[in-house]
Amino acid sequence: MRTYLVTGGAGFIGSNYIHYMFRKYDNEIRIINVDKLTYAGNLENLKDLEGRDNYTFVKADICDKEAIRKIFAENDIDRVVHFAAESHVDRSIKNPEVFVQTNVLGTLVMLNAAKEAWELPDGTFKEGKKFLHVSTDEVYGSLPDDGKSYFYETTPYDPHSPYSASKASSDFIVKSYIDTYKFPANITNTSNNYGPYQFPEKLIPLIINNALAGKDLPVYGDGKNIRDWLYVDDHAKGIDMVQEMGQLGQKYNIGGHNERRNIQIIHTILDTLLEILPDDDPRKKNVSYDLIKYVEDRKGHDRRYAIAPDKIKAEIDWEPETCFEEGIKKTIKWYLDNQDWMKNVTSGDYQKYYKDMYQDK
Ligand code: NAD
Ligand code: DAU
Repeated sequence: MRTYLVTGGAGFIGSNYIHYMFRKYDNEIRIINVDKLTYAGNLENLKDLEGRDNYTFVKADICDKEAIRKIFAENDIDRVVHFAAESHVDRSIKNPEVFVQTNVLGTLVMLNAAKEAWELPDGTFKEGKKFLHVSTDEVYGSLPDDGKSYFYETTPYDPHSPYSASKASSDFIVKSYIDTYKFPANITNTSNNYGPYQFPEKLIPLIINNALAGKDLPVYGDGKNIRDWLYVDDHAKGIDMVQEMGQLGQKYNIGGHNERRNIQIIHTILDTLLEILPDDDPRKKNVSYDLIKYVEDRKGHDRRYAIAPDKIKAEIDWEPETCFEEGIKKTIKWYLDNQDWMKNVTSGDYQKYYKDMYQDK
């Protein structure tokens, strides 16, 4: 039975990935989820896994060398899938330090612990051990708004925000372990994910939540920035395929051909809510185009992201399966059906965050 060490598994993509892996492999794998449970980590995302013999949660900080070494010492880990990170660009602009701490130094701790556990006396690594570093397309910087230029694995890194700079640094640390020690790792660089369990600081869940409550829908700048949206289950599948079928030492871009301007996303959410909410649902009267409010732009706002998934398609035959229209409907329905989840994550600290982030906009 393969044993996985997943970091950041209580967050948005990590929890969807763990669900995907148990749906796919059920009792053929074991997963240990290590998460610090920051504001973004929520064990409610994994409630249905409690009691499973092949799932364990460990509350720890990836920067804590001893805690991470202990997990490797006590378990024969076959796969590391490293999601844990500070992930929100706006927060990185206000408070960059924790981004460098977790994203850069935390990744180094993970690499060193895996290297120590997996390295043989001759400097090679135990057969079959693999580390996958989950990263972002934001490391490549911004594309012109021309609809025909794309991010490839060979695109030079040009990060602009403290978040993307910290992820770029972590990618280079992983690459240095691959190049120097022949450490058995892959790097994936993925576009914007959406789906269930995403924290409502990110565009899609924030707009759904505000629209239902009749609150302003903040649009940064002219609203025409472009992101390349990927349904989170497609990402989970891509990660698993890269880890099992990709060439060790290689990086793969995951995403593709789902480009939307932010304002289009907001219109789609409003239209979908108006379509699917029953007339007697009191929230329906709150949903209106009048809520759209253009606000001050994000500092250093990247204009366009777009991935060319040519390499992952050619080498391992992965491509996105969920079209945006289907994925956004599933996502909105999930948030409508899980209003308690939303209430829980937006109580407490979220109110302060929202006030600090949006009061001057
Ligand atoms: P998230 O913010 O929802 O979750 C991050 C998780 O990491 C949380 O559970 C948090 O508690 C945990 N964590 C944070 N600091 C930690 C620490 N020091 N020790 C242990 N755990 C810690 O993030 P997400 O959106 O799920 O992103 C996951 C990964 O995917 C990140 O590495 C991110 O850079 C990358 N990524 C995200 C997207 C996206 O669209 N969300 C796209 C491409 C890549
Ligand atoms: O591209 C991958 C990246 O996608 C990941 O690496 C990041 O972890 C993830 O957060 C995401 O980054 P973005 O900055 O693109 O996502 P966000 O949801 O914060 O913003 C999406 C777009 O919407 C962006 O152009 C900014 C804009 N926006 C966002 C918010 C929160 C608004 O106009 N209003 C808002 O209130």
